[in-house]
Amino acid sequence: MTATRIDGKAFAARLRERVGVRALEFAEAAGRKPGLAVVLVGEDPASQVYVRSKGKATLAANMESFEHRLPADTDERVLLELVERLNRDEAVDGILVQLPLPKHLDEKTIIAAIDPDKDVDGITPTNAGRLVLGMEALTSCTPLGCMLLLRDIFDDLSGLDAVVVGRSILFGKPMAQLLLAENCTVTMAHSRTRDLQGLLRRADIVVAAVGVPNLIRGDWLKPGAVVLDGGINRLDPEPGEIKGKIVGDVAYDEAEAHVRAITPVPGGVGATTIAVLLRNTLVAAYRNAGLAVPEGL
Ligand code: GUN
Repeated sequence: MTATRIDGKAFAARLRERVGVRALEFAEAAGRKPGLAVVLVGEDPASQVYVRSKGKATLAANMESFEHRLPADTDERVLLELVERLNRDEAVDGILVQLPLPKHLDEKTIIAAIDPDKDVDGITPTNAGRLVLGMEALTSCTPLGCMLLLRDIFDDLSGLDAVVVGRSILFGKPMAQLLLAENCTVTMAHSRTRDLQGLLRRADIVVAAVGVPNLIRGDWLKPGAVVLDGGINRLDPEPGEIKGKIVGDVAYDEAEAHVRAITPVPGGVGATTIAVLLRNTLVAAYRNAGLAVPEGL
C-alpha cells in the first residue's frame, strides 16, 4: 500500500482564501474588519516566528492585526490588565496569548482572564467546558484543523477507533473531545501509557502531538490507518547541514508503507493552524457583532 499524503498546506490555502472572502463580507455588514490581537511575552525565538507569521496571515485575510510584545520580566498584573483591555476593545474579536509564557507567570490565571467569546484558542475554562458539553464553542486551532482534514477523508467517523497521543490543553484534550463528538471510540495515550504499540495496533485513526521525534514506528500502525502527525521536532544536524531536519512524532517513511493516508511534517497538520486561527477569529467576529455565522467556514 502506498499512502495518500494529506496536503495540509493546500487545505490551509483553500481555507484562508474562503476566510479572506468572508472577512470582506463581514466588513461590509459590520462596518469594520474582524480583529485579532496576539500577545507575546518574552523573546522565545520559535514564538517570535509564529507571531510574525500570524500577523502577516491576518492582514492577508483582510483582518486587522494587533500585536502586543511585552518584555520577559512582565509583571502578571500588567499582563492581566492588557488582557482585560483587549476584552473591552470592540475592534478585537480574537485574543491569542502565545504559549508557553515565562515561568513566573501563571498560565491558568492568564488564560482564565480571556473573554471566552474572544478565546480563539478555545482554552478558557468556559470554552473547554462548552466543548465537553457539546455546546457551541471556540475550539483550539490545531485539533480543529485535524478534524477538518479528517472530514475530508471520511464521510462518517462513527465507531472508528481513534488513539490520541498527547494530552496537552491546546492539542490532545480538545482533539479527543472532537473525535468523541464524531462518535469515535477514543483512547488517550501519553507519556505514562504502558503499551502504546498495543493501543496503536487497533487504531483506525492516530493523532499524535507529543514532541518525540519518530516515536511511532511504521509497523506499530494498523494497515489502512489514517495518521495525523502534529509533532514538530528538529533533529540534530547531520554532517554538512547547518540546521537539523524537522520531523514529526511518526516515522513517516516507515508509516507510508502501512497506512491509508498520512500528513507529512512539515506541510501537514502544522500548516493548518494559522488558517484555522483566522477562521476562529472570523467566527468570533460574526458572533460578537450579533450576525449569523456563514455556512462552510
Ligand atoms: N504556542 C504554540 N502553538 C500555540 C497556539 O496554537 N496557541 C497559543 N496560544 N500558543 C501556542
